Amino acid sequence: MEDLLEVQDLCIEYASPRGVVKAADHVSFSIRKGEIFGLAGESGCGKSTTAFGICRLLRHPAQVTKGSVKLDGIELTGLSDEQFDRLRWSRMSIVLQSAMNNLNPVLRIRDQLVDAIVAHEPEAGRKLPGGQRI
Ligand SMILES: Nc1ncnc2c1ncn2[C@@H]1O[C@H](COP(=O)(O)OP(=O)(O)OP(=O)(O)O)[C@@H](O)[C@H]1O
Ligand SMILES: [Mg+2]
Repeated sequence: MEDLLEVQDLCIEYASPRGVVKAADHVSFSIRKGEIFGLAGESGCGKSTTAFGICRLLRHPAQVTKGSVKLDGIELTGLSDEQFDRLRWSRMSIVLQSAMNNLNPVLRIRDQLVDAIVAHEPEAGRKLPGGQRI
């Protein structure tokens, strides 16, 4: 099987008043097409930081300082934000672990999913195949 995602030597740091936290320290792994991959480790070991770094969702003060992330052979670290946005949703998505913090509890889940689809695939429209509007 081919590699779908290749992470090599990924380093991510948080600058904090008490110094630099090396949250991802030379992380390497690859996931093949069709493979289900689990990343396990104690709380605070850097799982979320690694996932956010791969998906370019890190916020200040986090910074990727080194490494390569390839999706289907395409090096992601060199892409502009616009180029990266084109891969989001269509090629790569993240489902965050805390649904109550990540889904708006006053909106229907269906509407939130539709918003995401329409944002990335405007031509998809809001109609189901049978013609019913969603
Ligand atoms: N904003 C921040 N400033 C400084 N250090 C941070 C910041 N955010 C996270 N860290 C540190 O980075 C390290 C990795 O955190 P991360 O959230 O990636 O861990 P995790 O493996 O996902 O943990 P959990 O299993 O609890 O979700 C931890 O030591 C954490 O304290
Ligand atoms: Mg986490």
